[in-house]
Amino acid sequence: MTEYTPVTTTTATKVPTLPDAQTVLDVKHWTDRLFSFRVSRPQSLRFRSGEFVMIGLLKDDGKPLLRAYSIASPAWDDELEFYSIKVQDGPLTSRLQHIKSGDQIILRPKPVGTLVHDALLPGNRLWFFATGTGIAPFASLIREPQTYEDYDQIILTHTCREVAELEYGRQLVDQVKNDELMAELVGAKNLQKLVYYPTTTREDSPKMGRITTLIKDGTLFGDLDVTDFGPDKDRAMVCGSIGLNTDIKEILESYGLREGANSEPAEYVVEKAFVG
Ligand code: A2P
Repeated sequence: MTEYTPVTTTTATKVPTLPDAQTVLDVKHWTDRLFSFRVSRPQSLRFRSGEFVMIGLLKDDGKPLLRAYSIASPAWDDELEFYSIKVQDGPLTSRLQHIKSGDQIILRPKPVGTLVHDALLPGNRLWFFATGTGIAPFASLIREPQTYEDYDQIILTHTCREVAELEYGRQLVDQVKNDELMAELVGAKNLQKLVYYPTTTREDSPKMGRITTLIKDGTLFGDLDVTDFGPDKDRAMVCGSIGLNTDIKEILESYGLREGANSEPAEYVVEKAFVG
């Protein structure tokens, strides 16, 4: 692994000085557990909406500490956005949560991942199942024109413990539906294909419960008037905790959907949301 000379953010120059350094452009704190930030995009970086890259900071010994982060911005954006949890004793996020505009982070420009359109066979309805920061790849995909070209309906479910933790996704969906650039890219009518289904598990809200429970007891499909969920029409992408991923996989497979990959597209794909 490459070693770097540590860079402090107090140096006069804010210009990236490391091979893989990018400049922090904006930071937004959503709750005491969640924040999002935007960084400069390396000119050479090409990625597919939904993919992740390794990002991080230098440790005191000058070595990089990197973790996988989904890129939350779409492939056409000039900047890169990330959405992160803050873990007070987490090796990376205990420090990353303190970044400010003008600071530098390390970003390895090698995007990978399975939450991409290429890993799914053509279908009519696309389901995004997210918990917590697992909404990040879908924040990218709901701003990706191909999503609206390829599907008749896109349903984003997002389950968090508390109402405030839904705010990043809620604002994003609002923004997408009313964004002039997106309307120009995909047509305002197409944006209305996007259905947002937020739920909470530990604080009162209009829709409560784990999404897995709401599928099993018929609430989700009842609310959305879906009577024919199955492998002919439906495609799904899943991103959340290991528990969510395992439980949703089981449900999707019980309906006859098969797990896909870049090399072998099928009906659903799964990725673990970053924790720590
Ligand atoms: P719950 O509050 O019932 O644990 P976290 O903040 O721990 O990452 O969790 C985010 C959300 O994901 C919470 O609302 C949590 O519900 C939910 N969740 C956790 N595990 C599962 C699972 N196995 N299936 C569905 N939802 C889950």
